[in-house]
Amino acid sequence: MSKALDRGILGRLFLFLAIGMAVGVGLFLMSATQAKAIDENKCLTCHGNPDFSKTNGQGQKISLYVNEKAMSFSAHRFIDCTTCHTNDPHKVPTPLTKLSLAERCGSCHQYQYKLHLDSIHGRELVKGNPDVATCVDCHSNDRNPHTVIRVLEYNAPAYKKNIADTCATCHGNEELMANYGIVEKVYESYMRSFHGKAMQLGTYEITQLDKATCTNCHGTHDIRSVDDTRSPVAGLDNLTKTCEQCHPGAGANFAAGFLGHKEASPQNIPVAHYTEILFRILLTSVIAVGAVVVIAAIVKFSTKGWRKE
Ligand code: HEC
Ligand code: HEC
Ligand code: HEC
Ligand code: HEC
Ligand code: HEC
Ligand code: HEC
Ligand code: HEC
Repeated sequence: MSKALDRGILGRLFLFLAIGMAVGVGLFLMSATQAKAIDENKCLTCHGNPDFSKTNGQGQKISLYVNEKAMSFSAHRFIDCTTCHTNDPHKVPTPLTKLSLAERCGSCHQYQYKLHLDSIHGRELVKGNPDVATCVDCHSNDRNPHTVIRVLEYNAPAYKKNIADTCATCHGNEELMANYGIVEKVYESYMRSFHGKAMQLGTYEITQLDKATCTNCHGTHDIRSVDDTRSPVAGLDNLTKTCEQCHPGAGANFAAGFLGHKEASPQNIPVAHYTEILFRILLTSVIAVGAVVVIAAIVKFSTKGWRKE
């Protein structure tokens, strides 16, 4: 009787063990097929090595390493290597420039690519200028084609709250900007403005981000020179329309009062300049008078103590 019971328990134990193992193997196989989905041709046996690189025609070292872990967080994590690297990637070596990169992104994202090519950044890119922004500068945190992340991820360089910082990686670089005759300190002046302050105060919630950032005034893939008549900030008509997207019925006077990125000076917007100076004098004198009163009180205390006369 007890032997039969024992055998029953043992039998059930084996059954559980067998089921457990089957589930384990199943899970292992599933995870294995998932990892294969982005590397169906085992490209990573070579390109998964962090030290893998080649030397290009100009003698520069170019890394050929693709970080699988970083790639598994990218917007393209379900796309196989060969979907982007069509034909045999080794038969037609490209020069691997910023332009060839944009072209490859553009093979799928044609709409953004077309706009980009006609933008101030894209037009320079076509001329072979590597200083300007292209796809990965705004979509990858390490400017790598394999770590492009979705626009709505909080840490995406293109997430609305992060855009100003993304533009500032170049537009905050005074030396670089001076080469192009761009003298306004656009990042600092934006951060000082109502819009910049409101954006900094808002949380990362998308509902808090109805404020204006760089791209609301300048465009995104179609950013143009501010002298180009098609720029949304060129001329009072365009600028008024741009403000009115968020300030309905604002009108030309509202837009005309906008300082842009310019700092007020005696030559440039003197009224604002002198008002600023007046307020600075007022503020300093109020603080100075306050300080004198406090110091006088301290001196009085240290010589006489708090006695009533
Ligand atoms: C046996 C190792 C090996 C494997 C596997 C391999 N590659 Fe490569 N790959 C190389 C080497 C070596 C280079 C550098 C070639 C050169 O000097 O131009 C390279 C270069 C590249 C380049 C840059 C091409 C260029 O213009 O210089 C790309 C893109 C690339 N491989 C993609 C792939 C893809 C996609 C796969 C899978 C289908 C793959 N590789 C599999 C060794 C490998
Ligand atoms: C979403 C598209 C996409 C996928 C998926 C993709 N790549 Fe790339 N890869 C690119 C682009 C774009 C470039 C820049 C190419 C250029 O300049 O012509 C690039 C460049 C490369 C280079 C050259 C070195 C470099 O970083 O510029 C190698 C090597 C490479 N890829 C290998 C791979 C391997 C291996 C996989 C799969 C694990 C893969 N790629 C998946 C888009 C992709
Ligand atoms: C100057 C920065 C910048 C550059 C350069 C740039 N993007 Fe974007 N991109 C953005 C921002 C910001 C958004 C967020 C949505 C918006 O404001 O339109 C975005 C959105 C996108 C989207 C989501 C769909 C959409 O249009 O909203 C795709 C796809 C995209 N970009 C692809 C590209 C490709 C491909 C390139 C290169 C040809 C590129 N981007 C170049 C900043 C940039
Ligand atoms: C083989 C076609 C292909 C290529 C090449 C390609 N993409 Fe994509 N991309 C896609 C697809 C498909 C999606 C949507 C993925 C999803 O929704 O899961 C996507 C998504 C994106 C997104 C996210 C859009 C959003 O709504 O947030 C961005 C940004 C983006 N790609 C930029 C790029 C950049 C930059 C490159 C070049 C480095 C590139 N793509 C190359 C096919 C491609
Ligand atoms: C509320 C609208 C608005 C916002 C937000 C804004 N700009 Fe501007 N931007 C303008 C206007 C108007 C001009 C032209 C007048 C001027 O130069 O001040 C301009 C000019 C520029 C110029 C050319 C300056 C020069 O010296 O020629 C650059 C570059 C620029 N902006 C980049 C940016 C960047 C980067 C951001 C975000 C950090 C930004 N802008 C935010 C409206 C805006
Ligand atoms: C990788 C560097 C880089 C990034 C990132 C970048 N830019 Fe630029 N941008 C440049 C350079 C360089 C120029 C000068 C091109 C020229 O004048 O030929 C330029 C030109 C401009 C101009 C035209 C200025 C003028 O003279 O009228 C505007 C506007 C502008 N960028 C806005 C932006 C905005 C907005 C962002 C962020 C969404 C951004 N840029 C991101 C490098 C960058
Ligand atoms: C993308 C939307 C958007 C655009 C475009 C925009 N603004 Fe604003 N602006 C706002 C929001 C939202 C606030 C309120 C900020 C806060 O206090 O939270 C604001 C506040 C202001 C303020 C502060 C006083 C007030 O009315 O609250 C001024 C001044 C202003 N904007 C001027 C402009 C001018 C001039 C333009 C065009 C060059 C412009 N804005 C374009 C969204 C925008």
